[in-house]
Amino acid sequence: MPLPKAELHLHIEGTLEPELAFELAARNGVTLPYADTEELREAYRFADLQSFLNLYYELMAVLRTERDFEDLANAYLARAAAQGVRHAEIFFDPQAHIGRGVAMGTVVEGLWRALGRSQETHGISTQLIMCFLRDESAESAMETLDAAKPYLDRITGVGLDSAEVGHPPVKFREVYEAAAALGLRRVAHAGEEGPPEYITEALDVLGVERIDHGLRCLEDPALVERLVRDRVPLTLCPLSNVRLRAVDVLEQHPLPAMLDAGLLCTVNSDDPAYFGGYAGDNFDAVRQALGLDEEQLRELARNSFTASFLEHDEERRARYLAEVEAYKFG
Ligand code: HPA
Ligand code: ZN
Repeated sequence: MPLPKAELHLHIEGTLEPELAFELAARNGVTLPYADTEELREAYRFADLQSFLNLYYELMAVLRTERDFEDLANAYLARAAAQGVRHAEIFFDPQAHIGRGVAMGTVVEGLWRALGRSQETHGISTQLIMCFLRDESAESAMETLDAAKPYLDRITGVGLDSAEVGHPPVKFREVYEAAAALGLRRVAHAGEEGPPEYITEALDVLGVERIDHGLRCLEDPALVERLVRDRVPLTLCPLSNVRLRAVDVLEQHPLPAMLDAGLLCTVNSDDPAYFGGYAGDNFDAVRQALGLDEEQLRELARNSFTASFLEHDEERRARYLAEVEAYKFG
């Protein structure tokens, strides 16, 4: 039995496996510029975040109907369940779909067909976090928030993703204020490729409660001290960091140093279809490459539930945390 864990940094569009991409392409009459899954996998060699994003957005062309989003989410949930995920807070990128003529309602209703039943079908509690694409305009983000208003009972929070450098958090001040006024939780990608100042700005200007990635906080000791003191969770994605060249090799990932520094680190998969593994695979990889011991792995699992947005159901959080404490490593 795998270690129970929550996944807090997972882009549902990043769970699109090549096999499902071709299946949906055939179903929807979409032609992909790759002959087969093997040729597509050949394209999974990324130089940086942007080179990944180009393929990530290109493959979304196959997602057209509610059923497509339902199938995508169910495929993820099945794989996540097999790797010990008990709770998932799932990002989605509505602007990447609306821009192709796929309505907000199609995306949310489709995902919800899977998520609304996920506790029964997969044993996973779920939440949805709507991300704004930071390389699109602030106006577009505000329009996206407006388009989401009929679906707010299904959306827990907002996030910020896509190309980071040159798109500082402050660009989205107004839309985050509007999101907060609607009672939405706030997170943002920061310090993946962007500088530590973006982490500070996401906290101070956007009022975020968690930082997605946050790796580059290590360049600013005062910021590390603040993140430790305020127990700001970081949703790290070790296999993603290697594939997108944020770190050279997993053996050099700073996760152990970050845990030693007292940072509230969690381990997540980001875009597992593209980066070589799901949540449990990321745990296994850091265990092997970094020699984490059982107590460090248990700490990461505990942190994932501590950092999750379960304030409306503290009983559930306590149950998950008790499972982590009782877990026996094989
Ligand atoms: N970073 C930024 N944007 C993203 C990512 C990521 O790792 N995955 C999907 N969109
Ligand atoms: Zn991400």
